[in-house]
Amino acid sequence: MPEVIVTKNLTKKYKEICAVEDLTLQVGSGEIFGFLGPNGAGKTTTIRVLTTLAKQTSGSVWVAGYDVKKEPEKVKKVIGVVQQHLTLDLDLNVKENMALHARLHHIRGVERKQRINELIDYVGLTKQSEKMITDLSGGMKKATMIARALIHRPRLLFLDEPTVGLDVQMRRRIWDLIRRLNGDGTTIFLTTHYIEEAEALCSRVGIVNEGRLIALGKPAELRQKVGLVAVETLIDSKFTRYQYFPDRNAATEYVQNLPSEIKTIIIRDSNLEDVFVELTGKKVGGDER
Ligand SMILES: Nc1ncnc2c1ncn2[C@@H]1O[C@H](COP(=O)(O)OP(=O)(O)OP(=O)(O)O)[C@@H](O)[C@H]1O
Ligand SMILES: [Mg+2]
Repeated sequence: MPEVIVTKNLTKKYKEICAVEDLTLQVGSGEIFGFLGPNGAGKTTTIRVLTTLAKQTSGSVWVAGYDVKKEPEKVKKVIGVVQQHLTLDLDLNVKENMALHARLHHIRGVERKQRINELIDYVGLTKQSEKMITDLSGGMKKATMIARALIHRPRLLFLDEPTVGLDVQMRRRIWDLIRRLNGDGTTIFLTTHYIEEAEALCSRVGIVNEGRLIALGKPAELRQKVGLVAVETLIDSKFTRYQYFPDRNAATEYVQNLPSEIKTIIIRDSNLEDVFVELTGKKVGGDER
């Protein structure tokens, strides 16, 4: 698995704010890699440096073998980027937005037409292809941005919060699209603050908090470090205690020995939220436990 993203001690500061601190990370070809963390963790800043939109303060970054600082144009040719905020031209329809982007990538004539139609079909927007952006749902806008990012057949696609604000059905359609793209050979680097998104999609995740990478690995490996089985006990109506065990047997044994006045006991598989909370003492959403 050759590496397509390598960062060494990447740091990005905005004046006194250290948005990303000493990030060392590798992403292999063919992965769906998820960068998971709460608001302000430094996810977008990392994507901006990886995609040449911002320059790191210190450290080294290679994307597809190119140094992002020294060879940004070469990096741009092999990556697609879907930013967190809406970057479509609101005065144009879906096809026209795609055509504008195709022109920027010097894709011309018949090839341009074919590629646009193919991609619009790929993301399921054939019926909406002549619609203005303002008339699309949030999910359709996101699908348009994904289709547009794919126009030059990038090997590596960056998705910054691909499903934020979308309803459950649309979220699953975007997930399917991401899986299909990955199955067709595209490496994916995505950011999310949704635990279930990282768990559903990602072969490996990096958990970030306040600019620092606090965990890195396959979701199951990270859960294993905390304990694969969680026991929640509601001590009184306000306070829940969380404890972790390597397996169901150990959890069941613990539960059997609990005092009988504890009425609410939940045994469940642990998840990446447990990992995050154990490492930081905070919820991904920001509440202190
Ligand atoms: N252009 C900027 N100028 C100054 N500070 C910035 C800038 N961009 C980001 N920051 C700061 O850097 C930190 C990381 O922000 P970033 O947008 O990377 O976080 P994020 O993980 O993407 O958050 P979110 O989940 O809200 O999108 C925050 O403290 C933010 O205020
Ligand atoms: Mg962000």
